[in-house]
Amino acid sequence: MEIDRRAFIATLGGTAAVSMMDSEAKAEALEHYMEEKLDEQVAAAQGTAPKNPTVAELEAQIETRGYRRGVGNLFVGSQGGKVKRLEPMPKNAKLQDFFRLRFMPANHVLQSATRAMKTGMSEEIILACLLHDVVQSMIKVDHGWWGAQLFEPYIPEKATFAIRYHAALRFYPDSDAGYEYPDLYYRIFGQDYQPPEYIASTYKMVRNHKWYMEPRLVTVNDLYAFDPNAKVSIDPFEDIIGRHFKHPKDGLGNDNSPSAHMWRTLANPDAPL
Ligand SMILES: [Fe+2]
Ligand SMILES: [Fe+2]
Repeated sequence: MEIDRRAFIATLGGTAAVSMMDSEAKAEALEHYMEEKLDEQVAAAQGTAPKNPTVAELEAQIETRGYRRGVGNLFVGSQGGKVKRLEPMPKNAKLQDFFRLRFMPANHVLQSATRAMKTGMSEEIILACLLHDVVQSMIKVDHGWWGAQLFEPYIPEKATFAIRYHAALRFYPDSDAGYEYPDLYYRIFGQDYQPPEYIASTYKMVRNHKWYMEPRLVTVNDLYAFDPNAKVSIDPFEDIIGRHFKHPKDGLGNDNSPSAHMWRTLANPDAPL
């Protein structure tokens, strides 16, 4: 079987992650990778591989749903089912309270931040990984921009930059950095999807920016953070949050910052107006 070296290294988390593995772990990973590829090839040969939809097919599904795909997780039941009653937020709510009561289960972001920490990334990048997708509780469309706005008053500028632009960069591979176009996107955006013009021009701007690697490393950690069996918690990030997240003294939502209303919306999504 032909092995695509770059793709294989990317599945392990890039060259930095591979350099930390011993030879036994590498051999095991290679065997696992070859087994998966073999399964894929057999499925393709038998015509049983799942087919990715086209953009037109995804658009045809719009009127089959009672909700829109860009709606935040707090506002729609999973698979369009019923929503749950939410526990009220405590007074003087902190980021950790929102993680526990509104962003839960937050597995994906915790996994990506755990990986960033294990691979020795900067504290701004670890923080950005921890926060990069949590605004999806409120809204999914353009979540990089919404998320950056939510956190901007409270975190370092570099972390805001990383959150804002990871969403545009994820459509553009950079194999030197260990980022490949995710297979998952063929399924969720369509196999023939082309990012709109504002995403393409944002990518060009960020590609030439001195902080390019900040959002790029968020996308790199993003790729390897979908393990359904990973055990993660926010506890290892307490110190980083303490050092870099400026909690308002009256609690998030009560501080009149430019995004205080967004925190109130997250706290109270059942408010009718
Ligand atoms: Fe994201
Ligand atoms: Fe993500």
